[in-house]
Amino acid sequence: MEIGHKLGNFHQYYDFHPIDGRIALLSEGVFEELWRASGSPAKFSWLDIGCNGGDLTVEIHRRMRREVPEAVECLVVGIDLDEELVRRASSKTRADPRCPEPAFPSPKSTS
Ligand SMILES: C[S@@+](CC[C@H](N)C(=O)[O-])C[C@H]1O[C@@H](n2cnc3c(N)ncnc32)[C@H](O)[C@@H]1O
Repeated sequence: MEIGHKLGNFHQYYDFHPIDGRIALLSEGVFEELWRASGSPAKFSWLDIGCNGGDLTVEIHRRMRREVPEAVECLVVGIDLDEELVRRASSKTRADPRCPEPAFPSPKSTS
């Protein structure tokens, strides 16, 4: 996809809009609250639509894992229409034996 911002697919988005300020707006324990409000499921899933380079998705995964009880399986999936951004997002995932990493399927696989 063409590099640009016609569809919001800024390739340097997190250089000028880092996640810290927005993450700081989320109160401690908000993911546990959301999990409980969802009926305390054994598998807690999160879909991030328009994940860009994945910075926020990876942080959401980290917060979910920290706040939701350990026995709960967490699944975080980030999707974006820009294949290059999805490739970058995929490179940021980290291994966590308690939880599948955020998954970033290629836009080609979802079309
Ligand atoms: C401004 S960025 C926001 C990134 C991230 N959600 C955040 O808040 O940090 C918006 C992203 O949405 C993506 N996007 C726009 N329309 C989309 C669509 N129809 N399907 C999937 N992604 C889309 C763009 O490519 C871009 O990466």
